[in-house]
Amino acid sequence: MYASFKSIGAYIPEQIRTNQWFVDRMDTSNEWITKRTGISERRIASDEENTSDLGVNAAKIAIERSDILVEDIDLVICATISPDYYCMPSTACLIANKLGINNVMALDISAACTGFVYAVQTAKAFIESGMKKNVLIVGAEKLSSIVDYTDRTTCMLFGDGAGAAIISTTEDKDEAILDIQCSADGGLKDLLLTPGVASDEAMFMQMKGNETFKIAVRTLTNDVKDIMAKNKLQNEDIDLFIPHQANYRIIKAVGDALKFEDSQKVVTVAKYGNTSSASIPMAMNDVYESGRLQSGDMMLLDAFGGGLTWGSALIPFAGK
Ligand code: UT7
Repeated sequence: MYASFKSIGAYIPEQIRTNQWFVDRMDTSNEWITKRTGISERRIASDEENTSDLGVNAAKIAIERSDILVEDIDLVICATISPDYYCMPSTACLIANKLGINNVMALDISAACTGFVYAVQTAKAFIESGMKKNVLIVGAEKLSSIVDYTDRTTCMLFGDGAGAAIISTTEDKDEAILDIQCSADGGLKDLLLTPGVASDEAMFMQMKGNETFKIAVRTLTNDVKDIMAKNKLQNEDIDLFIPHQANYRIIKAVGDALKFEDSQKVVTVAKYGNTSSASIPMAMNDVYESGRLQSGDMMLLDAFGGGLTWGSALIPFAGK
């Protein structure tokens, strides 16, 4: 049995927060934010929306676009660093419950911006081992709840949103997820972390931006070179390069180093900012809805985040 990537969906919160919002509140400028990050606006969830709500909305679309019913799902995985509750229950439990699924395994993955790639890898392993048949994976973040809006060096980067996908069994090797590699180095934990817990200002995210930036460019580039070489692929074998949307300058530097054409790169950071584990599935959903992502297209995912964690994946899109 192989694992195939059957569908994609996303939920984009309604409220738009432009750069002007930050200019009105701190010592920054639209020019600085645009030039250093490529971000013009990001979406912010409403007070009534929790991470699980964002995830459920994305999941419903992914299920609708797949060829399975909600009752066929036998594993729910949610990648998030902004869960509804800090220790328990997991956001995956809440998502499963809100979808009306109450008797399947449900778990969260904490791998920051690499969370979605980790989730695909985990789903693939469960399917290939024969333990599960239809896995719902969700990357959902309400980062506005953990961003320190007094820290001008990080707060303008982040936004809220969710993406979801169905990973199912297939006997068709052409549909199979080709390869995924995920890694971590906890020795670099201090570059990006939330030092405290619950309702204490130490729960807010802290980032050594410039140092993280440099490691991100190097790691993302090397990771792609590795997975492409391991699978004997050339750039022309890739239809869409879908990197984590951290900062336009990182995407450009990595894309240029890898010599991908603009037509291969998927860039959504200008309108959504960095949505951590939701950024790759939200970007994927964008190209799906615009018709750029077609059945059979080979997607190359590449992510990097707190942990530090990083990962890349070669995935043929098996959706309709
Ligand atoms: O998603 C997970 C991984 N995350 C990342 O990969 C993000 C990595 N980092 C970044 O995206 C970038 O490092 C930032 C966008 C956060 C910062 O850009 P940078 O080019 O690395 O700037 P910097 O930190 O080197 O700061 C340059 C200057 C500093 O002033 P001085 O020391 O040169 O006088 C900062 O104080 O920009 C100043 N600065 C600002 N100025 C206006 C920092 N934040 C701001 C701001 N507005 N919001």
